[in-house]
Amino acid sequence: MQLFDVYPVNDITITSGKGSYIWDDAGVEYLDLYGGHAVISIGHSHPYYVKRLTSQLNQIGFYSNSIKIPIQVELAEKLGKLSGKEDYQLFLCNSGAEANENALKLASFHTGRKKIVAFSKSFHGRTSLAVAATDSPAIVAPVNQTDNVVFLPFNDSAAVEAYFKEHGNEVAAVITEGIQGVGGIILASEDFLKTIRRVCDEHGAIFIADSVQCGYGRSGKFFSHDYAGVDADIYTMAKGMGNGFPVGGIIISPKIKAKHSMLGTTFGGNHLACAAALAVLEIMEEDKLLQNAEETGNYLVEQLKQIPQLQNVRGRGLMIGFDVPETHKDLRKNLLQKHRIFTGEAKPNVIRLLPALNIGKKEVDTLINAIKIELTTN
Ligand SMILES: Cc1ncc(COP(=O)(O)O)c(C=O)c1O
Repeated sequence: MQLFDVYPVNDITITSGKGSYIWDDAGVEYLDLYGGHAVISIGHSHPYYVKRLTSQLNQIGFYSNSIKIPIQVELAEKLGKLSGKEDYQLFLCNSGAEANENALKLASFHTGRKKIVAFSKSFHGRTSLAVAATDSPAIVAPVNQTDNVVFLPFNDSAAVEAYFKEHGNEVAAVITEGIQGVGGIILASEDFLKTIRRVCDEHGAIFIADSVQCGYGRSGKFFSHDYAGVDADIYTMAKGMGNGFPVGGIIISPKIKAKHSMLGTTFGGNHLACAAALAVLEIMEEDKLLQNAEETGNYLVEQLKQIPQLQNVRGRGLMIGFDVPETHKDLRKNLLQKHRIFTGEAKPNVIRLLPALNIGKKEVDTLINAIKIELTTN
């Protein structure tokens, strides 16, 4: 049997990792500043993480949500404490798309309405409603197309106000990333997020903060939407939550009440997934990773801004992007092939940096030197 060929693949086979470094099958070392699409939050094969997962697996790896699972309660408590949303409720699932799918569905159940407001250049995942709310026609199959989703221009508060004036009472939810990731590292403005909060309150709609990529400490605050000083009704999470173990979730404001059979999952919240998520939070707390994300992120941005050829250096914490000059279109490829540094991209010309939250200045300096070499010698 062959693999279903849906991914463009680098000709590299990674066989081991430690912290922000990974090695291929020939023993060649790479610096990982991408974490496999923003997933690696505490570094590869962190010893505490490995120990916690191994010991959980030696006890029990899985049982379904038909029994009491105390480690879920432990996770909810820890997550409430570290995110500052202690009165929210946790529902666990397995991926970012699934988190958004559940959030949108829950908003519709809660309001009894159908309309979803999403934004230009958004990415919310590949399941049916999540992909319908994603502004990328190429990944929306005919069966996913629906008039229930309306796209407005990102960061356009006036457009949000105008839409709500006409249709506010039909809207179940507004969904937005706090920093667009796939869209090219674009920060939602404070005014935009405050406007969404206000119109949702005025019209009884649900504000969903897609924090799958920009959340979980990456921005230097637990949720990047926190920078605007507003609370969303539902935050969706995945990626860094399990440091590679597939775990996602939504946290839900107390104003939304649960009913049996509204949401459900076979795998979500299993013992091993909760152990992974708890290990990540424990390391984040112990090693002050939010603080490191902010400080090292600021240092990285400062260094990038001093390279005159790089345009539009932007981001928050360790979610950083910049435009690659037309003259050096191959910069990302060369960073990987010549300097052994993994970075991410966004179309058409953006390099995205999404490293582990515990990288240090040494890793930043390695990247900066490599970029300088590429931009000056080629
Ligand atoms: C903002 C955002 N939401 C949702 C998703 C979907 O997550 P997953 O691939 O885990 O389904 C992604 C993935 O890149 C994302 O960046």
